[in-house]
Amino acid sequence: MVKHSNCQVLGIVGSPRRGGNTEILVDEVLLGAENAGALIKKVILNNLNINPCQACDSCRKTGKCIHNDDMLELLEKMEQSDIWVLGTPIYWWGPTAQFKAFLDRWYCPNHKNFKGMKVILVIPLGGGHPNYARHTVGMFTDIFNYLDMELFETVLAPGLEERGKVREKKDILEKAYKAGQMAINKLNKS
Ligand SMILES: Cc1cc2nc3c(=O)[nH]c(=O)nc-3n(C[C@H](O)[C@H](O)[C@H](O)COP(=O)(O)O)c2cc1C
Repeated sequence: MVKHSNCQVLGIVGSPRRGGNTEILVDEVLLGAENAGALIKKVILNNLNINPCQACDSCRKTGKCIHNDDMLELLEKMEQSDIWVLGTPIYWWGPTAQFKAFLDRWYCPNHKNFKGMKVILVIPLGGGHPNYARHTVGMFTDIFNYLDMELFETVLAPGLEERGKVREKKDILEKAYKAGQMAINKLNKS
């Protein structure tokens, strides 16, 4: 069931490198979704002020985070969306610091609203084998299971060290485009 007459898809880019492999792939997923009729939005985590969780448990007691930062507006955008395209490159076998800070802020009780959320993952990495992304893929798998979310597709893109290198990988670009397109078709049918 979509939340609006048009599906809304939110791309969240966790790489600090503008025009990098993550952003290109997130854009490609968004383009596929847009051409299938979705309304799209994109945020760049590195441009936002998202403070790290302080484990103060204030959110558990008051329902509110002590941080009055850009996460509030981002959470609203997330809750209005039908699909999230979550993109992070691999940094030291994990997500970027920007992405991890964002993820830790899912701790607040609002995360219960994430139940049933549909996600497309986008993960480029420098290493030549997808296995180097296994911890990050495992982390996301466990989080999505824990929060009862639905992973539609994972676009893993190994062997991409330089900025924009993914433009040479037509098969991966196509996979990203189709992931966006198919997600909208699937959602419209449900
Ligand atoms: C600080 C840092 C750590 C990295 N660690 C890894 C790593 O552990 N494994 C890997 O395969 N690539 C690693 N990389 C390479 C990036 O994943 C790769 O360049 C990716 O394409 C960057 O995506 P972007 O263009 O969207 O920033 C690292 C890059 C940086 C800057």
